[in-house]
Amino acid sequence: MPKKPKILVVTGGGDCPGLNAVIRAIVRRAILHHGWDVVGSEDAFNGILGDPRRIVPLGIEDVKGILDRGGTILGTTNKGDPFNYPVKRGDGTVELRDRSDELIAICGEEGVDGVIAIGGDGSAKISQRLFEKGLPVVCVPKTIDNDLSCTEYTFGYLSAVATATDAVDKLQTTGESHDRIMVLEVMGRDAGWIALACAVAGGAHQCLIPEIPYDIGKVASGIKETIQREKFKNSYAVVVVAEGARPKGGAVTQKLSSDPTYRMPKLGGVAIGVAEQLEKLTGIESRYTILGHLQRGGTPAPFDRILGSEYGVFAVDMVAQKKFGFMAAYQGMRMVAVPIKEAIAIYKVVDVNSALLQTARGLGIGFGD
Ligand code: F6P
Repeated sequence: MPKKPKILVVTGGGDCPGLNAVIRAIVRRAILHHGWDVVGSEDAFNGILGDPRRIVPLGIEDVKGILDRGGTILGTTNKGDPFNYPVKRGDGTVELRDRSDELIAICGEEGVDGVIAIGGDGSAKISQRLFEKGLPVVCVPKTIDNDLSCTEYTFGYLSAVATATDAVDKLQTTGESHDRIMVLEVMGRDAGWIALACAVAGGAHQCLIPEIPYDIGKVASGIKETIQREKFKNSYAVVVVAEGARPKGGAVTQKLSSDPTYRMPKLGGVAIGVAEQLEKLTGIESRYTILGHLQRGGTPAPFDRILGSEYGVFAVDMVAQKKFGFMAAYQGMRMVAVPIKEAIAIYKVVDVNSALLQTARGLGIGFGD
């Protein structure tokens, strides 16, 4: 009997809601429509490069009941770049080795005809390099940050926005009751998508995003003006701050990890200084909340389950059409294939002329500019 075509699925980088919906859709489309086999590499590419290998079969039964489950049944990591793969030396120190050729050879040995790499910006860059070396790979754009170009939405983003909006709603009532400024820090790396969306959805008063460096004096005066102009009974405000926001002429709040295999700077903590400064400048007691990984976990919103399912089905069909080196993208309510190269060429930040930003300004949300 001739060998059935085989797809290998990889989830890489940080997790986000909707990953399991994509895996489920890939498995169902590949098996039910094309009659192919599907396998998954555990913990991104580590499953392929591990000793022993951790490549698991994925059948219809394996993906039953996972549509609404957060995380990824395959596991993930942002410490498994095959071009800079951490290998422990005898003395316990870690050396970074290029294992990309080995990875491609193993995929051949395992009889893999197409790889579907589900990941964000970093994972897509790795996929592009692997494609250039000969790996038949297609990408699916995943990230709560919504910062990948060529697609209107990455899956996971709107679930994170739902969590962040719930936090804004809650801070509104406690802030108003206590006459406090409540500063909420949300994720998003160098893009303000989550911050802007939850500020509009939750009716925040100020929103600080990386795309618009802020003047803290203007944020403080904006809060006081709002309280007076709108005749608030209580002196309070909700300020949403993106983790990548920075003051005019200042720097992003970040630190480098001591772990050599963790290559991105760790963002976080900007809300602490913002709350301290606002308390001094306004005389209103201020508190901060850093929402952190709550935005990444839990049940995907219905839209992300739908989007994840669309991405999964489309990615399998891309493999069937041998559209390797392409990424599935959502444009104008349609799925299209775009070169991975284009998706990673420009980091997608908030357009300051976009409808969403203009809407926020129209609603009276201040940006500290
Ligand atoms: O890219 C997704 C993201 O959640 C960012 O918003 C955040 O800065 C980063 O990942 C956090 O990564 P980690 O889980 O490694 O701390």
